[in-house]
Amino acid sequence: MNTKIELGAIWPDMPRFQEGIRRAPDRGYTLDNEKTVTALKNALRYLPAELHEKAAPEFLEELRTRGRIYAYRWRPEGDLKAKPIDEYKGKCLAGKAFQVMIDNNLSFDVALYPYELVTYGETGQVAQNWLQYRLIKKYLEELTEEQTLVVESGHPLGLFPSRPDAPRVIITNAMMVGMFDNLHDWHEAMQLGVANYGQMTAGGWMYIGPQGIVHGTFNTILNAGRMKLGVPEDGDLRGHIFVSSGLGGMSGAQPKAAEIAGAAAIIAEVDESRIKTRMDQGWVSARTENIEEAFSLAQKAMDERKPLSIAYHGNVVDLLEYAVAHNKKIELLSDQTSCHAVYEGGYCPVGLTFEQRTELLHNDPARFHQLVDESLRRHFEAIKALVARGTYFFDYGNSFMKAIYDAGVKEISRNGVDEKDGFIWPSYVEDIMGPMLFDYGYGPFRWVCLSGKHEDLIKTDKAAMECIDPNRRGQDRDNYNWIRDAEKNALVVGTQARILYQDAMGRLKIALRFNEMVRNGEVGPIMLGRDHHDVSGTDSPFRETSNIKDGSNVMADMAVQCFAGNCARGMSLVALHNGGGVGIGKAINGGFGMVCDGSQRVDEILKKAMLWDVMGGVARRSWARNENAMSTVREWNETQGVNGFVITEPNIADEDLIRGLL
Ligand SMILES: NC(=O)c1ccc[n+]([C@@H]2O[C@H](COP(=O)([O-])OP(=O)(O)OC[C@H]3O[C@@H](n4cnc5c(N)ncnc54)[C@H](O)[C@@H]3O)[C@@H](O)[C@H]2O)c1
Repeated sequence: MNTKIELGAIWPDMPRFQEGIRRAPDRGYTLDNEKTVTALKNALRYLPAELHEKAAPEFLEELRTRGRIYAYRWRPEGDLKAKPIDEYKGKCLAGKAFQVMIDNNLSFDVALYPYELVTYGETGQVAQNWLQYRLIKKYLEELTEEQTLVVESGHPLGLFPSRPDAPRVIITNAMMVGMFDNLHDWHEAMQLGVANYGQMTAGGWMYIGPQGIVHGTFNTILNAGRMKLGVPEDGDLRGHIFVSSGLGGMSGAQPKAAEIAGAAAIIAEVDESRIKTRMDQGWVSARTENIEEAFSLAQKAMDERKPLSIAYHGNVVDLLEYAVAHNKKIELLSDQTSCHAVYEGGYCPVGLTFEQRTELLHNDPARFHQLVDESLRRHFEAIKALVARGTYFFDYGNSFMKAIYDAGVKEISRNGVDEKDGFIWPSYVEDIMGPMLFDYGYGPFRWVCLSGKHEDLIKTDKAAMECIDPNRRGQDRDNYNWIRDAEKNALVVGTQARILYQDAMGRLKIALRFNEMVRNGEVGPIMLGRDHHDVSGTDSPFRETSNIKDGSNVMADMAVQCFAGNCARGMSLVALHNGGGVGIGKAINGGFGMVCDGSQRVDEILKKAMLWDVMGGVARRSWARNENAMSTVREWNETQGVNGFVITEPNIADEDLIRGLL
C-alpha cells in the first residue's frame, strides 16, 4: 500500500509543440508581486524542493507570457489519444475508465487547445496544469473500490476512505464564494492556480467530441423550423436556410446537424485552422471566403432541396451586414462565438483577422476590449435589421445577448433597464429545448464503449434503438431516427461514443440493457454519462433554466441537489461546476459518469440514480408551473408513486383573483 502519492524528482524534457496544433491565447497576467509570489509557491507545491530553483523561473515565464502556469514541461510528449481501457494501469475498473475519459478530453482530435488542457468552449479545461494531470493519473492508478478521489479545481486532494457503492471520483470546479463570484476575482484565482474553469464535460471528464452537441443542435434547429417555418412533424429543413457562427468545439456541430436536418447552412468562422479541422472530419461540405458565393451556394442547395453546409471564412458581422445590405434571405439565425469569454479571446472583433486578434489580446487588452464592444454593437444592429424582416433569431446559450448588454446596448434587455427579466430575443432553451425536451425529461444521455471497439458501439446503437418506441411521442420518433442513422452519419470523433436524447425511463431502460450486455460478455465495459446541459444538471437563467418563470431561475438548488443525489446513490463520478457555457457566476452545473461493469450492484445503482438524475429536474420544472413538466409529473405519480417515488405537484392559482387584489 502506498502511503504517499507524489510526482517525485523527475525533470522531464520539455515536450515539443507540434506545428498545426492550436494554442490558447495569452489569458492576461495581472498579479502584483505579492500575489505572483503566492502563485509560484502554489505551483511549486507539486514538486520536491530540489526542483524549485529550476522550475520557478519557468513557471514565472509562463505566468507572464500566457497568463497562467501550465507547467508545460510535465505534459507527456505527443498525442494523448485515449487507448482501450485494458491498456491503462489501475486497481479498479473506474480508475482505468476515467483515464480513458481524461485522455480523450485532451487528445489532438478532440481538444481545442490540447497543450493548455482546454477541451472546448475557449476556456474549458480538464485541470489547470500538467502537474495536476500527472498526479490525477497516479491517483487513478492507485484508486480502489474502497476509496474516493477528491478533485478540487483540477487539484487531486487525495484518496479518502469510502465504499464500493459511493462515487470513485468527486469533482468540483471554480465553486467561488458568492461575493467573489465575479470575473475579476475569478481571473485572479485562475492565475494563482486555485480555480479551474471546467465548462461542463471538460472538467467533468465526459466530453465526447462535437457529436455530443450534434444531436441537441439537430433537435434545436429542426424544432425551430417546425415552430417558425411551418415544417411538418414528419418533415425536415430541406429548402430552408440556417446561418450562424463558430466551428469550434461545440459550435463545430452546427454544419453537421444542419445537414442531417436537411438545411442549407452558412457558418462564419474566423480561424482557418478550425475550418480545416471540420472539413477534414467531413463535418463541413464547402468553404469560401466570398460572402456572395456563400449565399449563392446556399440558394442553389435550397432550390435543389439538398442539404449543404458552407463554412464562410471571415467574421460573422461582415456576413450579417452583407445580408442586410443585399437583402439576403436568412430564415433561422443564431451565433456560437464564445461569448461567455468575449474579452478573453472568445469573440473576434470585426475588422481584425484571427491572428491580429491573438496579437492585440496579448499587446493591448484594453483596446481589444473596446473593439469587442464596438463589434458586438454592430452585430446587434445587423440582427435587429434581419429580425425586422422576418428572420427568427435565437441565442445559442453562449451568453451572446448578455455580452451585447454588457457592451452597452440596454435595448437588448427585455425591461430596457437591466438583465433581470431576460432579453428581447429568446434563448434556444426558452423557446425550444425547455418546453419541448427538458420539461418532459428528454436530455443528452451518452455512452462510451471503453473497449475502444467500433463493433461494441454498433451493438449498443442497435440495443438502444430496440428500447425506443417511435410511436409514443414526436420526440421519441426523432430519437429513434437519430440512433437508426447514427452509424451512417459517421459522428465519432475520439472515443467510440454515442449521444442519444432520452427521458428518465428511456435512459434507465437503455442503461440496464447495456449493463446486461456487459454482464453477458456481448460488449466490453461501458461508461454512461450525459452533458451537464440537461434537464436537472444545470441552473443557468440565460440558458437551461431560461424557461423557468416562477422567479427561481436565480436559484441553483436544483443543480446542487442533482449532484448531491447522484453522490448519495453511488454514481461512479459526480461533478459540480461554476459557470459552464455562459461563464463564471452565471450558472451552476453538474454531471455524472457511471461505469457499467455488468454487476448486479451497478443495476441497483442505475435503478435509483438514473431516475433521480432526470426526475429531480422535471419535478422542479413542474413546481415552476411548466405545463409539459406538470403533465409528466402527473403521469409519473400515477405510474411510479406506488414505487415510493412521489413528487409534489403545484396547485394553480387563478391569476385574475390575485390581480384583482392589487
Ligand atoms: N452548441 C451548443 O449546444 C452550446 C450549448 C451551450 C453553449 N454553447 C456555447 O457556444 C459557444 C461556443 O462553444 P465552442 O465550444 O464552439 O467554443 P469555441 O471557442 O471552440 O468556438 C467558437 C468559435 O467562434 C469563432 N469566432 C469567434 N468570434 C468570431 C466572429 N466574430 N466571427 C466568426 N467566428 C468567430 C472562434 O474562432 C471559434 O472557433 C460557447 O460560449 C459555449 O458555451 C454552445
